[in-house]
Amino acid sequence: MRSKDSDDLVRVGPGTAMGALMRQYWLPAAMSAEVKPDGAPLRLMLLGEQLIAFRDSAGRIGVMDHRCPHRCASLFLGRNEEGGLRCIYHGWKYDVEGNCVDTPNLADPEFKNRIKAKAYKTVERNGLVWVYMGERQAAPPPLPLIEATLLPEAEVTINFVQRECNYLQALEGDIDTSHFGFLHAGGISPDDVPDDSLFRFTVTNRAPDYHVADTPSGTMYAAYREAAPGKTYWRFANFMMPFWTQTPQGAFASHLHNRAWVPMDDHHTMFVSLTWKQHPPSIGPNKEGRMMPGFKRVFNYLPNETGWYGRWRLERRAENDWLIDRDAQKTGGNFSGIDGIHAQDQAVTESMGPVTDHLFEHLAPSDRMIMATRRCLLQAARALAKDGTMPPGVDDPQIMHAVRSGDFITEARLGWRDAYDREMREAVRPLKMAAE
Ligand code: FES
Ligand SMILES: [Fe+2]
Repeated sequence: MRSKDSDDLVRVGPGTAMGALMRQYWLPAAMSAEVKPDGAPLRLMLLGEQLIAFRDSAGRIGVMDHRCPHRCASLFLGRNEEGGLRCIYHGWKYDVEGNCVDTPNLADPEFKNRIKAKAYKTVERNGLVWVYMGERQAAPPPLPLIEATLLPEAEVTINFVQRECNYLQALEGDIDTSHFGFLHAGGISPDDVPDDSLFRFTVTNRAPDYHVADTPSGTMYAAYREAAPGKTYWRFANFMMPFWTQTPQGAFASHLHNRAWVPMDDHHTMFVSLTWKQHPPSIGPNKEGRMMPGFKRVFNYLPNETGWYGRWRLERRAENDWLIDRDAQKTGGNFSGIDGIHAQDQAVTESMGPVTDHLFEHLAPSDRMIMATRRCLLQAARALAKDGTMPPGVDDPQIMHAVRSGDFITEARLGWRDAYDREMREAVRPLKMAAE
């Protein structure tokens, strides 16, 4: 990879190619519950910009540059009261749209009409606060129709987890399928797994073949292995522009979930996970009915703090070597020695450093999905930079809707696209749109 390509892929601040691409899309930025009416403003780092979010007395959300447009004191310190946020320096006050509504240190009551805070469009839907940071502030594009984001709040589990590295290497963990049989399941033998579990195939053949293709909304792969004579075991996964993924571990028919890797800045990423509550656990117990080593499913958080990087941090982090347990690694049946699938992914991707040095890598045939996804992102960013070509899904959000991942078995003679289409027709779709 050329160093220019690498830079264009990973840098997300204002004025960068990928930053411009990301700014075309609505970004899931916070949980609704994180911002309370008349409560303390929340520091929000998004695409390298220091923002604050607050909810006014009427319940409306504002997201704006944290600097007061008067003399740049931070509005994080502001008083959130009576329908707006008042800067504590000279008392200027802003509503959620950034309008200056009061300048009590000035005699001229008209002066405020010349002042506007740098506010971004926001929308709340199903428990998430979305922010649009692009140029079309007057008439932003529609919200994305990503399936799990349309589920009512009571039917979806939302988790945020901060990852201390660039969004790309974090996201690539989700589409790097051949790590599953090692990082997560390297210590599991096929004999440990119940006979009727599809997971058995993952630990029987750890070097599957792949198909990779571009799709209308991003990229897709299908990893496949022989399940039995005349039968194929499939694992499908997706990348959707500009930072969404769907992973293959789970029964395709009910695996309704979406995962976003939202860049906070070049070195920090907020993982936003949305999972349908009726989605069954993707990996069941072993033959004895016990959870397999390393498969713990909880997030152990540090307490949230108010700093730019203070939200949703995990206890396992670089400073404590992600609490790796060498005994578990050597003799405990846990290949990585780190407990928890998410923690394992977090450890390896953070261990690469804040931004992976792409010139140091040696990509292999097992990384074709990663190569295709980088190409897809770069092409879209460059087309946008060249002539303003809108990237996929911005003005045509419906292409993000009927996209699924997961595993299943078919007759071997079925081609991979046909296998996907057939499974898609049979999938549980609680919110199927009329047009489909
Ligand atoms: S800096 Fe905010 S009112 Fe003066
Ligand atoms: Fe993983």
